Amino acid sequence: MSRQYYIAGNWKMHKTRSEAAELTKSLVEGLKDGKHKYLIAPPFTALETVGAIVRGTNIRLGAQDAAAEEQGAHTGEVSVLMLKDLGVQSIILGHSERRHTYKEDDALINKKVKLALKYGFEVILCVGETLEERECGQAEVVCENQVLWGFAGVPKDALANIVIAYEPVWAIGTGKTATPEDADAIHAYIRKVIGRLYGADAADRIVIQYGGSVKPENVTQLMAKENIDGALVGGASLKADAFLPIAKFA
Ligand code: 13P
Repeated sequence: MSRQYYIAGNWKMHKTRSEAAELTKSLVEGLKDGKHKYLIAPPFTALETVGAIVRGTNIRLGAQDAAAEEQGAHTGEVSVLMLKDLGVQSIILGHSERRHTYKEDDALINKKVKLALKYGFEVILCVGETLEERECGQAEVVCENQVLWGFAGVPKDALANIVIAYEPVWAIGTGKTATPEDADAIHAYIRKVIGRLYGADAADRIVIQYGGSVKPENVTQLMAKENIDGALVGGASLKADAFLPIAKFA
């Protein structure tokens, strides 16, 4: 397998600029000999601060969302042009908190995906089922539909810039992790969907992260699974002493 492990921290709505700077400096120092691919996604207000610290290091700068339009009358939104200007390299789109708390639908997320790709960003597209959907046996179909929608109109040559993050909603911030076996099964299923859309080579190459209560204690078992290629970490990405052992798992 040629896929590289990709460990990302999604800081969500945490950290002032000075707190962000302090954490970023610890991560730069702690990961300078790290073997995997890394990203941190601070809130918009800390992007400039964090960007100045990670520039030239092995940590990529990510944003947690972007508007579906380039500019205009969109109060409260942040555009891809602004993110480019700040040196952002990757954008997380379709996070379950955007989907469920802020009611973003698949059509809107697809529009954002295409716009971000057009401007040369790497996209981390999040998918995942709710507990209710899982209990009804719909985990696979929900993830499949989110992938089909997310990738609608995305040509094969853009795939190198897309990462999928499988984040079961019931495992986010709850302390409940999907078992490595359950997560791997969904990852394998998503890979099959990508294969159907873009061919076996694309399915083999696409990086699929797992997210949902990833911790230093469970990262190794999760990453050992064939179809799990990295982690999108929330809570445990807010402290260097939790994120570093995750990011440097052996
Ligand atoms: P937790 O790691 O806090 O469960 O969050 C996962 C997540 O939503 C990352 O995007």
